[in-house]
Amino acid sequence: MKTTALFICLILTGNLLAQNKLILKTDSTGIKINKEIYGHFSEHLGTCIYEGIYVGENSDIPNINGYRTDVVEALKALKIPVLRWPGGCFADTYHWKDGIGPKEDRPSIVNVFWGGVTEDNSFGTHEFLDFCELIGTEPYLSINVGSGTVEEAIDWVEYVTSSNESPMTELRKKNGREDPWDVKFWGIGNENWGCGGDLRAEYYADMFRNFSSYIRGNGFQKVICGPSADDLAWTENILEVIKDKLNLAQGLSMHYYTLPTSNWEGSKGSSIDFDEDMWFATIRNTMYVEDYIKSHLAIMDKYDPAGDIKLIVDEWGTWYDKLEGTKEGFLQQQNTLRDALVAGINLNIFNNHADRISMANIAQIVNVLQSVIMTRGAQMVKTPTYYVFQMYNVHQDAELIPIELKSENYDYNGEHIPAITASASHKNGMTNITITNSNPNQALPVDLLLGKPYKNVRGKIINAKAITDYNDFGKDEKVVMTDYSIGKVKNGELHVTMPAHSVVLIQLED
Ligand code: AHR
Repeated sequence: MKTTALFICLILTGNLLAQNKLILKTDSTGIKINKEIYGHFSEHLGTCIYEGIYVGENSDIPNINGYRTDVVEALKALKIPVLRWPGGCFADTYHWKDGIGPKEDRPSIVNVFWGGVTEDNSFGTHEFLDFCELIGTEPYLSINVGSGTVEEAIDWVEYVTSSNESPMTELRKKNGREDPWDVKFWGIGNENWGCGGDLRAEYYADMFRNFSSYIRGNGFQKVICGPSADDLAWTENILEVIKDKLNLAQGLSMHYYTLPTSNWEGSKGSSIDFDEDMWFATIRNTMYVEDYIKSHLAIMDKYDPAGDIKLIVDEWGTWYDKLEGTKEGFLQQQNTLRDALVAGINLNIFNNHADRISMANIAQIVNVLQSVIMTRGAQMVKTPTYYVFQMYNVHQDAELIPIELKSENYDYNGEHIPAITASASHKNGMTNITITNSNPNQALPVDLLLGKPYKNVRGKIINAKAITDYNDFGKDEKVVMTDYSIGKVKNGELHVTMPAHSVVLIQLED
């Protein structure tokens, strides 16, 4: 009798009954969530650049100097902080001088990694850097190490960033650009353990030393080609070779893709036609990234205890089988509510490691892998992943609020993963908390212990009826971001219901 009375009393007072508890540690840490964690990646791959971003001035599709107007507007609204280019695997085949000067004089090449299509180089250095200025983003250029030379790299840096009088700056001016561009981020090679030359770690590390010592400029951030997923040996061997020259590097990259089947050789799983089996596997495999981050950071700490070299996750996202009817090597897939959860989980993890992760770049921005935008002819859709980036923008350059999270499990077929992930930050008088619930069958209550009272609370949610829902061309959007009504803060506590398969933002005004 007594127990029942207490139970009813707890329900009525909305007291802490949920198994899911989120405690904000509001003492200031001074850790900034670098806005670059919300970065993107654009490669000469499939229809990312041509068709997706660039259609040329003579296209019937409305454009600004050849850039699709709809895509420009959508990307501007997303406040993209940084964009990586020209690859990817393509970068280590790219000779930048092919992509400057009058378009009719530019040589064509074959894009050997992606579909064997002809690349006419009509989108080159000027087109990319001008695009960055147009959408208000910082460029991150990938230098060709695998098949390029140090001389070529030095010339590129001079051409792009120098205000000296020199043959390269004269050439730039002749090609229509008087002032240098502001490029801070330089990747020295890409996946050089694989498509970027199949190099051994020790050999690449020496090449990194060589290239990096010639790539000089104020405030440059030079990024070592790092490992894929759990390749700890690559990280260890590289750092061993450069340990006496750590100041040559400001970042070490890491790539991690989520494949539902964990199988690079066979089927990776469908992007559109999946059941709970594949849903669970996708969420589980996404969460592995946190272990990989911690393992690589542990090695980095050994060589660089001051933590001056940051981890840069410059390729991440889902990778499924290509959509039926699309070209081999174009990596075109659909983007469902599942991808929204994957994005929300990844970004929460990156935020929580913002003391060491300084940048992340989802692969890729338009029409390739987990893109935020898809185009077909003159049509364009914003994917569920787009809305997650829009929702999470509040964390850009905000102060990280560390959290303590207790989550119940999402159990499936004898496996268990935490159902809830979250991260929190504070900026401009607002505390922002982003939460994901990957349980596709159950709404989950979460108790938030905020540590102080808040008067104004508001929320947003990304959700849809089915886990396979996506936004299709010419149809009403099925996965969108809408307002979400949140209760009131009582005694510094807030009780929130996280609907099944949802991503939620809670905003608390100081
Ligand atoms: O993003 C597609 C490809 O994935 C990139 O070109 C390469 O770096 C990675 O293997």
